[in-house]
Amino acid sequence: MRILVTGGTGYIGSHTTLELLQAGHDVVVMDNLANSSTESLNRVQELSGRTASFVQADLLDPQALEAIFAEHSPEAVIHFAGLKAVGESVAKPLHYYRNNVAGTLNLLAAMDRHDVRTIVFSSSATVYGASEEVPLVEDMPMDAVNPYGRTKEQIEDILADLGASDERWSIALLRYFNPVGAHESGRIGEDPTGVPNNLLPFVAQVAVGRREKVMVFGNDYNTPDGTGVRDYIHVMDLAAGHLAALDYIAARKGVKRWNLGTGNGSSVLEVLAAFSKAAGKDVPYEFAPRRPGDAAVSYADPSAARAELGWSAGRSLDDMCRDHWNWQKQNPQGYATQA
Ligand code: UD1
Repeated sequence: MRILVTGGTGYIGSHTTLELLQAGHDVVVMDNLANSSTESLNRVQELSGRTASFVQADLLDPQALEAIFAEHSPEAVIHFAGLKAVGESVAKPLHYYRNNVAGTLNLLAAMDRHDVRTIVFSSSATVYGASEEVPLVEDMPMDAVNPYGRTKEQIEDILADLGASDERWSIALLRYFNPVGAHESGRIGEDPTGVPNNLLPFVAQVAVGRREKVMVFGNDYNTPDGTGVRDYIHVMDLAAGHLAALDYIAARKGVKRWNLGTGNGSSVLEVLAAFSKAAGKDVPYEFAPRRPGDAAVSYADPSAARAELGWSAGRSLDDMCRDHWNWQKQNPQGYATQA
């Protein structure tokens, strides 16, 4: 298929673009490069031995979208582009709603005009909010607790309403748990701008010497070791999940929601131990107060994706830490270092 990938130079977008190219799909990457660089795409092309088209454009620019659909005639869209920092979304809610929600509306309007009605959307387990019930199942109510999460929830609602209004649409809403790791080559990986908000990139930057120590947010949760438990998933498993979802919806109409997680929870201390083992050195850490808005435990029930997509996340926490470290040590400053 010919696939438009919005946000294709970002972390999950670049790994998925690689998988798409390797599976023989033609890819058009669209990105505004707000939090990424085209170096990831250069490396994806190098790894796959294939080229993708690239357009630097913003979803808030309807004319640019129109030109992309007119010129490239995609048959399906995988929509990653969006802002994702929780704290920033609290400080700048309008910026988040405009970029994520209004941007998606522009994209959907262009798709509709061009008779492209197959879309895989990057949602997040954040839509479950601070639910105390685990594992999280797709039919649990959405209850996001911050503006970023509410943009994901609102886009899910918009897509569900769209699918209900017109049976020609094929829509997959993928709820990612905690994506980590990198392609096993170490050529592409996560390269956050500024101070990482998420655990793994922070741990990796401590291990490589860019930061002094990890602050562990809370050691008094009701969990086996008192630290927060999450469902970490290898980004290559996640990328494969997109291809499985695309295959599924390309053959069927309607709206589907799938959790993409492993179904296993790991604590912050377990992640630190696994990363230290992978890096062959202790990663210094210190306990700090809980981070507001954090749930104690979050992990997926991934059985729907397994049953319907024939997909499951097979890579272990050790694999995730090995590959994340391999990327970080080869690219201590991310893509900024060298070509
Ligand atoms: C966070 C976001 C979520 C978003 C997801 C992916 C919050 C409250 N949630 O999820 O909306 O979808 O990232 O971008 O920000 N931790 C530390 N020290 C750190 C960083 C994290 O101890 O420096 C702990 C956290 O308390 C948590 C675990 O590590 O228990 C994972 O944190 P993180 O990687 O930020 O992911 P989430 O909080 O699950």
